[in-house]
Amino acid sequence: MEIIIFDTAAQLDEYGANYFVNTVKQKSNAVLGLATGSTPIGIYNKLVEKYKQKEVSFSGVTTYNLDEYAGLPEGSDQSYAYYMNQHLFSHIDIASNQTHLPNGNASDLHAACKEYDAMLEKQPIDVQLLGIGHNGHIGFNEPAEGLQGGTHLVELKAETREANARFFSSIDEVPTHAITMGVGSILKAKTVMLVARGADKADIIKEALTGPITTKVPASLLQTHPNVIVLLDREAGRWLA
Ligand code: F6R
Repeated sequence: MEIIIFDTAAQLDEYGANYFVNTVKQKSNAVLGLATGSTPIGIYNKLVEKYKQKEVSFSGVTTYNLDEYAGLPEGSDQSYAYYMNQHLFSHIDIASNQTHLPNGNASDLHAACKEYDAMLEKQPIDVQLLGIGHNGHIGFNEPAEGLQGGTHLVELKAETREANARFFSSIDEVPTHAITMGVGSILKAKTVMLVARGADKADIIKEALTGPITTKVPASLLQTHPNVIVLLDREAGRWLA
């Protein structure tokens, strides 16, 4: 596991974006695993900048997002599909049929999970971008006695709904369920890039990266992956420096 601690957010974003750009330059049909939340926004902004400066083309790239809420109204601006269009897809040259998110509006959510896994099986992820929740969740894989390997439907924990309520007008609007890639699917990515920012992530980063490997801290399972790169700002990395 390679851990890099950056002095500034801009340096972290530049490094993260360059990693993706280099991946795509080396493999024009790369498969990228993407995340939402506040953590990746700076990296997506830089990717858009680099695309506009003609440093990179995404025309051959395929993307798979980690997760999506279940049951939000079609086209909801709280959906992760909306977020991805807003922050990345609508600004770069990627065809919409090459971008994938779990279908949180499928009539059969379990079948939708199976279909997602079948697609991932055919198109293994080259680089998977991850943020981390304060409780150690990755995707929507919440701390538990056991974790599911593949894409599955989850009931969101109260703390995760509270953390995400900032994006909604009230906590009651935060969906109760979501579809997420499982930890098994995440670990199948050839490279995993875990990113964290801010002092509020420092404790969980230390626990996940240096503590025991346990399903109670889902991100700790990344310790078992042979190719993980961790990008932290000074605050998130304060207990590791
Ligand atoms: C988002 C996701 C989540 C977030 C995590 C951190 O697709 O899967 O696991 O990465 O909740 O969220 P932020 O970045 O908002 O702190």
